[in-house]
Amino acid sequence: MRPRRFTASGPLTGRIRVPGDKSISHRSIMLGALAVGETRVTGLLEGEDVQSTAAAMRAMGATIERDADGMWHVHGVGVGGLLQPQAALDMGNSGTSTRLLMGLVATHPITATFVGDGSLSKRPMGRVIDPLSTMGAEFTASPGGRLPLTLRGISPAVPIEYRLPVASAQVKSALLLAGLNTPGITTVIEPIPTRDHSERMLRGFGAELTVDLAEDGARVIRVRGEAELKPQDIVVPGDPSSAAFFVVAALLVEGSDLVVENVGLNPTRAALFDVLRLMGGSIEELDRRDVGGEPVADLRVRHSLLTGIAVDPAVVPSMVDEFPVLFVAAALARGRTVTTGLEELRVKESDRISAMRAALELAGATVTETEDGLIIDGTGGDPLPGTADGASVVTHLDHRIAMAMAIAGIASKRGVEVDDTRPIATSFPVFESLLASVRPEGAAAA
Ligand code: S3P
Repeated sequence: MRPRRFTASGPLTGRIRVPGDKSISHRSIMLGALAVGETRVTGLLEGEDVQSTAAAMRAMGATIERDADGMWHVHGVGVGGLLQPQAALDMGNSGTSTRLLMGLVATHPITATFVGDGSLSKRPMGRVIDPLSTMGAEFTASPGGRLPLTLRGISPAVPIEYRLPVASAQVKSALLLAGLNTPGITTVIEPIPTRDHSERMLRGFGAELTVDLAEDGARVIRVRGEAELKPQDIVVPGDPSSAAFFVVAALLVEGSDLVVENVGLNPTRAALFDVLRLMGGSIEELDRRDVGGEPVADLRVRHSLLTGIAVDPAVVPSMVDEFPVLFVAAALARGRTVTTGLEELRVKESDRISAMRAALELAGATVTETEDGLIIDGTGGDPLPGTADGASVVTHLDHRIAMAMAIAGIASKRGVEVDDTRPIATSFPVFESLLASVRPEGAAAA
């Protein structure tokens, strides 16, 4: 465990650049590993989750290297060419690695065992096991459809048409990736849109993929199998889910005026910034542009008094990872914030509804937990009291709980003690050094 107390130390100012998008980084390694030839990736997130994906793709035959300038070079094996891994694939903390790679392995004639840490081993895999079994793959899972599990892939697999029962980009992507090495057309029907990086990138790599709207508004995504992927040069935009912590910090801490550069603003990801604006946050988009086929801008954020709102549950999929830090923003807003429709948060790296309720209460916030969300009565702009001596927030191996509560700490009177900062390295290894860099000199947390 690596505990740390995060304390107030004046305004956040200057310009920072957050690391590459986690979702896009995973996908660029996976698709690069399936293309014949060299894919080059700049701006790749070098967090532990993406390293888990890279290690697994290496174990299945791809060559993946980083050069001295930070560019990643991926030499793929071709669709259908994944090799039998010689040892279990260690997925660490990463649900995205696990579910997407299960899709890939399912339609190759190989057998792989997936293992993970204590958090990942509690997460449900039935959502991918069920449809991949219909395609012909076989699974031996731990009780409740959990890790460790062994997957015996099949080739040729059976193409399916599958309507997603949960709004999940991971399940959608697992099936599209499984479809790549399946004869015919694999169809995924998505009633509620989720992040569309897989669709964008599959097209970029030359897969035949179409998206149509059904009469009921659902997205119908079709991919033609036995695809031949062409290697690409990819520039990964900055991760909006990482930028979120700095955006909220600058809104909450008096006197702040911060520019966060190169933030990915794909509409299936960026709803947090709209919600914060609705609450009265000053977030200005500068220099909107395109990076690697994704919309990007620099965000200038100034301290603002926020007002509580009822968050529209329709936006949940487009900010599903941002609720922990939104709850922190709500805890300092004027009035009440009500969130609903957050059932999926209970099966993330931790149960983020109950973990954040407990954490915010410990820091002195007024929070009520419901079945599918939190109701938060804010301080009206005053800093939170912070955690008492000897009390520390429990992060449950969840990077976003650790970072959200770090931000709560810098917006508190006494500071917030976080029990373990190690999980931050899964998605945002430079979080603490970036935070130090935007604060007044010498004021780093104790
Ligand atoms: C992700 C999808 C989301 C998200 C996760 C990354 C992805 O998960 O929470 O951090 O890259 O596809 P779900 O598909 O479980 O909602």
